[in-house]
Amino acid sequence: MSEISTSHPFSFVLFGGSGHLAKIKIYPALYVLALKKRLPKDYAIVGYARSDMDDAAFRKLVEEAIREHMIEVTEPALEEFMKHVYYQQGQYDSAADFTALNEKLTAIEKGWKDNVRLAYYSVPPTVFGDISHNLCEGNVHDGKIPFRCIVEKPVGDSLESFEAIKKQLVGCFAEDEIYLLDHYLGKEAVRNIYYLRHANPIFERILKNTLIDHVEITAMENKGIEGRAGYFEAAGTFRDMFQSHLLMMASLLTMRIQSDEDLAAGRADALGQFYLPAATDMDEVALQAQYSGYQEEEGVKKGSRTNTFACLKLMTRISKWDGVPFYLHSGKKLEKKETRISIQFQEPRPVGEGSTPNRLDIILQGEAGMRMYLQTKMGGTEPAFRPLVLEDPLVCVGDCLPEHSLMILEAIHGKRHWFLDFDEVKTSWRLVDPVQKHLDASDTPLHTYKAGSKGPEAANQWIEKDGLEWF
Ligand code: BG6
Repeated sequence: MSEISTSHPFSFVLFGGSGHLAKIKIYPALYVLALKKRLPKDYAIVGYARSDMDDAAFRKLVEEAIREHMIEVTEPALEEFMKHVYYQQGQYDSAADFTALNEKLTAIEKGWKDNVRLAYYSVPPTVFGDISHNLCEGNVHDGKIPFRCIVEKPVGDSLESFEAIKKQLVGCFAEDEIYLLDHYLGKEAVRNIYYLRHANPIFERILKNTLIDHVEITAMENKGIEGRAGYFEAAGTFRDMFQSHLLMMASLLTMRIQSDEDLAAGRADALGQFYLPAATDMDEVALQAQYSGYQEEEGVKKGSRTNTFACLKLMTRISKWDGVPFYLHSGKKLEKKETRISIQFQEPRPVGEGSTPNRLDIILQGEAGMRMYLQTKMGGTEPAFRPLVLEDPLVCVGDCLPEHSLMILEAIHGKRHWFLDFDEVKTSWRLVDPVQKHLDASDTPLHTYKAGSKGPEAANQWIEKDGLEWF
């Protein structure tokens, strides 16, 4: 099996280097690449931020983050990795500071051949415009050295803000230099939603409306907001999880099977086929809730109406899925972490006592695995049944990397298939916007649930109206 590694020397400039994402995901991801010997001899990780710090102080911050977020570290690998870490202090709106950044990079890169530069935006979208503009003004992006601008989700908080950000980015970079990152697309288990279909014609053939009753897509988290009130208060679970991760999973399940080059277009196409079911009342389409105790979290306003749990019902125009409802739900501070797609098949005729409809579960996170629920006859003269569960763990075997490691490596290589393109993000905001508007309305109910529970009772009643229950 071939392992992806890179022989291109590269400089990786990280904006937002002392932020939550950088500490919990990006530094550990880069360290893992170094540990697994996937990085070339020559590379540099350069933190750029406003705080006054030198290389040594920044290295300390990076090292602490790695030690805190890795289960274990290999000392020689960490020591070697730290030699590649640098810091550049500067303002985001100062072209002169970016010129200084370019000088620093040029000095580090002396003697490198065929190198690549990457800028990683782990900062609020409000500073995207300044950073993009000054990367060009300051010649960090000079049109000669191949360049990738990696932008972590969310790209905006609405269709309108997305369009404004897009304008800022394409004003500075070519579209194929922009890498929009949804880390779920870096998870092997999530990619597998598509590849299970791609590689198993029998499986693919049963995914159709004449056999399927409905689909549930779940992303439950046991964690809360982890000190990210500044971001989360404005976003809420619906924007944070549905606009990106949940809709992506739904698209991977329904998109056309196609060549790798067309994956992004295929996902965008599938996304564009989803629509909100016609309903007299939007409360039938979406529901929101907040865990009790949320308002006592640091940085959260008293009386906050931010949702930490949401449900959404969707339909798709893709003919083979026509008429199949998709129920999406996600929340924080729930009983356990589980990301799952459950496909319930129809039960066209009563089978007998004890029988339940066939179901396929693809559990992507939590106790990852696949489960197929069949029925088997119990002994006796009358046909009575019990479930037979075919089950296997779904673990990554082979060249497995954490999602951010894989995506950073792919970006260095210029492999774009698992990055979003602007069409996908736009289509997704277009779908999400009217629902968000409904959730934001002051008369839309905001239910409550107990931290550590399965979620609000109202979510059970919501799906029961369609004659169903959550799995
Ligand atoms: C992020 C959200 O995109 O995904 C977080 O901003 C959420 O709020 C996280 O907790 C979930 O990711 P994962 O990889 O833990 O399932």
